[in-house]
Amino acid sequence: MRTSQRRATPRDYLMCPPTHFRVTYSINPWMDPDKPVDLRLALAQWEDLRDRYRSLGHTVQELTPHPELPDMVFAANGATVIDGRVLGARFAHSERTAEAAVHRAWFREHGYPEVREPDHINEGEGDFAVTASWLLAGRGFRSSPLSNPEAQEYFGRPVIGLDLVDPRYYHLDTALSVLDDTTDSDVMYYPPAFSPGSRAVLARLFPDAIIAEEPDAAAFGLNAVCDGRHVLLPQAALGLFEPLRERGYEPIGLDLSELLKGGGSVKCCTLELRSA
Ligand code: ARG
Repeated sequence: MRTSQRRATPRDYLMCPPTHFRVTYSINPWMDPDKPVDLRLALAQWEDLRDRYRSLGHTVQELTPHPELPDMVFAANGATVIDGRVLGARFAHSERTAEAAVHRAWFREHGYPEVREPDHINEGEGDFAVTASWLLAGRGFRSSPLSNPEAQEYFGRPVIGLDLVDPRYYHLDTALSVLDDTTDSDVMYYPPAFSPGSRAVLARLFPDAIIAEEPDAAAFGLNAVCDGRHVLLPQAALGLFEPLRERGYEPIGLDLSELLKGGGSVKCCTLELRSA
């Protein structure tokens, strides 16, 4: 198989520190308000992820957290940015509604000329995954199918709708991860998270994909970020390490156990800012 030639390219990420992270409501099956969260540990784990990106040569900008928005740490949900164009989010749950405007304001303040407030519900990169020329779009739990044509029109790239069927994998980025985004062929995913038809679509588009097993998916192993070479993912998703190495990737395991209590991990905390 393809080996050792993987090249990382420098990325720009937007992250939001979990200063006000807590689990006081439950909008996904991972969130249990009765389970205590260690905020100091959450912060340390998050800082470790941020510092890891920086030591790999990536830039990380930080969004200012709001005390009344405990899920803001999951910055991936706030927007989708391709070619410097920003499609804002519209959240499915009222608890997170206000995050969308915070993100849009950040992009306007940081000189992004095109910032769209969407008509339809989409939870940003939680449900949109970018390959070289396509946009893969998860739907069923959060993002509306109506967001798919909206994103296609805005970004001018084909949107491939994928129906999510297991509430534990409520966002696309919990069930599928794009690896080398200079191609339209390199992903890893967990088939049972998708409807039979969507599974067939994935098999057709990605015949060489890494297929995740249940324990790795449940450890949020697909909630990964790849820079072309390094794949940052939860360290508990051990079964994915060898298949990644076989394909020339360098897996880097992280412990984000506290953020998992909110139903998120590496990718959820990371919004990629793709410039033109
Ligand atoms: N508690 C958040 C929610 O349920 C977690 C979001 C995780 N983010 C992600 N990109 N999957 O909305």
